[in-house]
Amino acid sequence: MFAVCAVALLCCMSASHSAPLACEDSVRPLDQLDRRRLEGRWALVAGSLSDPAQFEFFKRRNSSSINFSSTSATSNVFYTPSVSAGGKCHFKTYNVSLEGSVLTFDALDQINLTLTFLHSSCQDCVLIRFDNESKKPVRLLLFSRRREVEQKEMEEFNAQVQCLNMPPPAVMDPTKELCPEETTSDPAAQTEEKTEGQKA
Ligand SMILES: *[C@@H]1O[C@H](CO)[C@@H](O)[C@H](O)[C@H]1NC(C)=O
Ligand SMILES: *[C@@H]1O[C@H](CO)[C@@H](O)[C@H](O)[C@H]1NC(C)=O
Ligand SMILES: *[C@@H]1O[C@H](CO)[C@@H](O)[C@H](O)[C@H]1NC(C)=O
Ligand SMILES: *[C@@H]1O[C@H](CO)[C@@H](O)[C@H](O)[C@H]1NC(C)=O
Ligand SMILES: *[C@@H]1O[C@H](CO)[C@@H](O)[C@H](O)[C@H]1NC(C)=O
Repeated sequence: MFAVCAVALLCCMSASHSAPLACEDSVRPLDQLDRRRLEGRWALVAGSLSDPAQFEFFKRRNSSSINFSSTSATSNVFYTPSVSAGGKCHFKTYNVSLEGSVLTFDALDQINLTLTFLHSSCQDCVLIRFDNESKKPVRLLLFSRRREVEQKEMEEFNAQVQCLNMPPPAVMDPTKELCPEETTSDPAAQTEEKTEGQKA
């Protein structure tokens, strides 16, 4: 009887100890970011934001995508988030630095966000955690080459959102068109918008 209790207790203790570890593991940064794999366009599939007001605003977008294109031999790449909202497409190209699994903006862009690419079992996805200047996660966004992911991939994402103590994610409507592919050759055509939309 005592033995059973002891075993039960032990197993519960070990379970409660392993839970946070499993959580930490599920939101770990990528060891290696393959820059060539990153190139091109990724559609936003789902996302969670810690700030309720920004999250409401975020939910009003029709669709969103990000585009990466490599520059020369430097560690810099072009990062172009685009957002379809309010019947318009908003996009902006940033020259960002990519070191390991971490993306940072140029100081001139005045965007105090650090993007970290996290591990995901989804093969054609990129999972990005956005940290604010206090190093607190403020967004977790799942992008894919597809417009929607499998249920088990969404379950993994939900668990990752929970691990970061963020609100339940919003899932994008896969039937809403993405902004048309823009080219970097015509910067004048870019519409700038001083809102949260332009960081992704
Ligand atoms: C998007 O990425 C592709 C491939 O890297 C590149 O050819 C294209 O110019 C990029 N578009 C923008 C707007 O950066
Ligand atoms: C979403 O797209 C529809 C057309 O597909 C458009 O009428 C509507 O204004 C868009 N909504 C937003 C918030 O952009
Ligand atoms: C991007 O930024 C880096 C660092 O500031 C700079 O060395 C590089 O020339 C820039 N690339 C382009 C194409 O503007
Ligand atoms: C970014 O951080 C710097 C220094 O903490 C601050 O002066 C600046 O206003 C911040 N910029 C934005 C856009 O939040
Ligand atoms: C960073 O985000 C956390 C969590 O949302 C928030 O409490 C904190 O005030 C933010 N810090 C800055 C400087 O925005």
